[in-house]
Amino acid sequence: MIIAIDGPAAAGKGTLARRLAAQLGFDYLDTGLIYRAVGMSMLRAGLDPADGEKAETLARALTPADLTAGDLRSDDAAQAASKVAVVPGVRAALLDFQRQFAAQPPGGQGAVLDGRDIGTVVCPDATAKLFVTASVEKRAERRLKELQSRGLDAIQSAVLADMRERDERDSNRSAAPLKAADDAFVLDSSDLDADQAFAVALDYVKSRF
Ligand code: CDP
Ligand code: CDP
Repeated sequence: MIIAIDGPAAAGKGTLARRLAAQLGFDYLDTGLIYRAVGMSMLRAGLDPADGEKAETLARALTPADLTAGDLRSDDAAQAASKVAVVPGVRAALLDFQRQFAAQPPGGQGAVLDGRDIGTVVCPDATAKLFVTASVEKRAERRLKELQSRGLDAIQSAVLADMRERDERDSNRSAAPLKAADDAFVLDSSDLDADQAFAVALDYVKSRF
């Protein structure tokens, strides 16, 4: 059983995915983390994340240990991730790992994956597909609060600009762009808190079993 959750940055995908996984006893894979790890490896090696050939080489060499690096949650990592994510060879290199996790999750019960292309490309046959979205202003507000609660310095206008830039790059790339699958349930969380969004999502997911 596979639950696919896609949507733009800070829509609440990860929060929802974690809660659904806990509720159902499924394993959770944050696929954004994989792209962040490739992006950060490029930055650490002093390479331009937009260098497709190098990014593909690093993506092919990625190990699980790379997913636990300390700085993957930074906005620099997010920007670098969205730059390597436009490269078709990078996406192809990361596909097997994601599909393998979905098909054979460690706990054997089921898998929840979140990202940008789970319902469209990685797991087109997922049991349930959610496309979680919210206005860009609400999403920037959430990300700002999150950064502040982690004690990081952040400026509201910069967070908003970063989000718009990533939305634009993610939606307009030709390889697996950010978009809702035709058969996805669209959940606009602009005016819902995390508990309300979870309740709506759980109802939908149960209707698919
Ligand atoms: O994974 P994604 O980037 O889509 O978002 P997230 O990291 O799960 O959520 C971003 C922030 O929004 C978290 O601090 C949540 O507590 C908050 N939030 C939410 O997840 N859902 C709502 N409906 C409202 C707020
Ligand atoms: O947490 P947030 O939603 O801000 O970002 P993320 O899910 O960690 O993803 C970071 C970047 O990786 C995105 O802006 C996408 O460019 C890329 N990504 C992707 O292309 N495909 C995925 N399945 C997941 C992430």
